Amino acid sequence: MSVQRNLLITGGAGFIGSHVVRRFVTTYPQYRIINLDALTYAGNLENLRDIENAPNYTFVKADICNADAVAKVFKDFAIDGVIHLAAESHVDRSITDPLAFVRTNVFGTVTLLNAAKEAWKGAYDGKRFYHVSTDEVYGSLHDGGFFTEETPYDPQSPYSASKASSDHFVRAYGNTYKLPFVVSNCSNNYGSHHFPEKLIPLMINNIRNNKPLPVYGKGENVRDWLWVEDHAAAIDTIFHTGVNGETYNIGGHNEWKNIDLVHLLCAIMDRKLGRAEGESAKLITYVTDRAGHDLRYAIDASKIERELGWRPSITFEVGLERTVDWYLANTEWLDHVTSGAYQQYYQAHYAQH
Ligand code: NAD
Ligand code: TYD
Repeated sequence: MSVQRNLLITGGAGFIGSHVVRRFVTTYPQYRIINLDALTYAGNLENLRDIENAPNYTFVKADICNADAVAKVFKDFAIDGVIHLAAESHVDRSITDPLAFVRTNVFGTVTLLNAAKEAWKGAYDGKRFYHVSTDEVYGSLHDGGFFTEETPYDPQSPYSASKASSDHFVRAYGNTYKLPFVVSNCSNNYGSHHFPEKLIPLMINNIRNNKPLPVYGKGENVRDWLWVEDHAAAIDTIFHTGVNGETYNIGGHNEWKNIDLVHLLCAIMDRKLGRAEGESAKLITYVTDRAGHDLRYAIDASKIERELGWRPSITFEVGLERTVDWYLANTEWLDHVTSGAYQQYYQAHYAQH
């Protein structure tokens, strides 16, 4: 089959990236998919075992901050499309080490933008740079309402400030160099292969191991949860049918207070593990709140629904059941990623609370 596109996906060994890589490799055999990932603590090639030998898939271990390595990939593979997901992604880590976030999320994104600009040299026909971002750039909602594509940026954490900066650079390259780009800003994802430093997999893992369930503050913060495979589907839709220069918000219409979500997970786990009702919830432990903790995120996803016809495919109830089932069937994956460096992170981070 002749190759129709040479697509660079960055961060493809991470949580969302691995779902995007899998979707593109299996849905588009006529595309060559190059997954560029530095394999930080969050990147794991185990996430892609099932497709690693696909003829249209290539993995390149490289850092997006390494301009020479990135330029070489553009040249060697004649890259004509980019889906950029590589990032430092955890708010708590950004509070401890903001510069790591500036480095990868800002410097790395600009390095990638430069590489695209230099490789494409203004011959932009058929080219596209897709930047994957977060709803956290809009800040925190306090009095109802939703984030739209017009909501002014108001990032509140080092993570969201670094993502906001990267979004600004992408748009600046569009304005200044006419680089063809699209941006999407998505709400919290959940699903398989999610690193257990984030709320849902951390709680599942701790319930499984009968460890305390650390709820920050009073547990009243609200997040809008979307199944990761629905995010991957939205990325596919936007990459193929989005309009250059546009931004699309992606969300699940699915707001949960953290404490309600943790109770729901406890109830599901009690059932799946054959524990007495209420048993797992006894593990809930309120701990010191996250510094500068955003109260509520909620996305108005009407633009992508109206203009591109995307909407979530499954309910939270179905998605959460599938997610819990995946972790319980893949305890080896959990044990593997929670050994070594994870233990040090966990002790250091939760000791402060
Ligand atoms: P993740 O932390 O699970 O994975 C990040 C990946 O990027 C890892 O594979 C890591 O090895 C790689 N990486 C990190 N630094 C790198 C570097 N310097 N060079 C090359 N590769 C590097 O992240 P995720 O949760 O899958 O998020 C992916 C993207 O989606 C991020 O840009 C994030 O901001 C965005 N996003 C995430 C969510 C969410 O709920 N997780 C929601 C909206 C948007
Ligand atoms: P997280 O998964 O880190 O995503 P984000 O901060 O990017 O939204 O956290 C989701 C919510 O859960 C957030 O309000 C912080 C809270 N949280 C806890 O209460 N305890 C925890 O151990 C973690 C990791 C998060």
